[in-house]
Amino acid sequence: MPDLTFDGDVIIVTGAGSGLGRAYALELARRGARVVVNDLGVDESGAAAASAGADATVAVIREAGGTAVPDPHSVAERDGGRAIVRTALEAFGRVDAVVHNAGFSRDNFFDQMTDEQIDSVLDVHLRGAFYVAQPAYAAMKQAGGGRIVLTASTAGLLGAPLMANYGAGKMGVVGLARSIAVEGAQYGIKANALSPGAATRRGDDSSAFRFANRPNPIDPATVPGREWLTPERVAPMVVLLTHRSCPVTGEILMARSGWFARAWVTASEGWIAGGGPIQAEDLLQHWDEIAGTGTEGTELPLDGPGWTVRFMNERIKPLLAEPAANQRS
Ligand SMILES: NC(=O)c1ccc[n+]([C@@H]2O[C@H](COP(=O)([O-])OP(=O)(O)OC[C@H]3O[C@@H](n4cnc5c(N)ncnc54)[C@H](O)[C@@H]3O)[C@@H](O)[C@H]2O)c1
Repeated sequence: MPDLTFDGDVIIVTGAGSGLGRAYALELARRGARVVVNDLGVDESGAAAASAGADATVAVIREAGGTAVPDPHSVAERDGGRAIVRTALEAFGRVDAVVHNAGFSRDNFFDQMTDEQIDSVLDVHLRGAFYVAQPAYAAMKQAGGGRIVLTASTAGLLGAPLMANYGAGKMGVVGLARSIAVEGAQYGIKANALSPGAATRRGDDSSAFRFANRPNPIDPATVPGREWLTPERVAPMVVLLTHRSCPVTGEILMARSGWFARAWVTASEGWIAGGGPIQAEDLLQHWDEIAGTGTEGTELPLDGPGWTVRFMNERIKPLLAEPAANQRS
């Protein structure tokens, strides 16, 4: 048996009928977790019924001697999120971890993106994260702790053409994970965002339009290393983030092709104006300090309000007594 075992911990994986979620569920179950396999069974644009959804993954887990129950509810609805957590509580009486992975994309040029394309994608990725994580958090809080993993994307962290809806939702879950991490620490709850990469059907077919229509088109067939771009090579990070020994909270992790890394939010040292009025021209004059070099800077810590108070004490307070240095004549 591997060292990182779950000893019957109950883990919900949304969108676990295919792709990354399926690989996560299989690996977690192999390590002794009792898994709630949620999936609606839709295609990569979230539209049509496309697969056996959760049942097929559950069958594989049970065949291998593991424990899992299927759940067919949609993460994109408030009641769906509640029902998914209820499935875990009714089947196993607890929730130790939740991985919100379900999702799809509906790409379009930014100026042509419809409300339907915006709403449906935000609903499944961002609101879905609230709908599933809130009831799970409540159960974890009562039980004394738990782990939450939300799925981000390079489309949000780095930006991507034709994916404004998706990128916004995916960056939204980063803020959500960091906020849950700060608030949940007192209850033993850890929350992280994971930006995965794998050649699944979603990372494949649905990207054809996006690859062809970007300002500098990409031919996916020419990108090397597809054989390493598997969901199984992402799953170890999910094992770590859902395990009781999870070493981090409030972080952004990246996993693809066997590459595992942490991304973080950094600010340049910046320029602080003295007292007195500040003009836009002052900023231009100090632009190099404001922009920074990109290689220096400070990682911004978890906890926005805490950082703000420290910043005011450490950076601004010492300047308060000084005469206005930046008065323009
Ligand atoms: N594949 C990649 O390279 C990649 C990159 C970045 C982020 N992601 C993210 O990883 C996650 C998994 O992606 P994937 O590539 O495995 O895609 P996938 O299409 O293979 O799997 C997504 C699953 O989510 C399910 N689903 C969709 N809407 C649902 C809903 N409302 N309720 C419940 N289930 C629903 C689908 O039925 C499907 O089985 C997604 O959040 C995706 O945005 C993937």
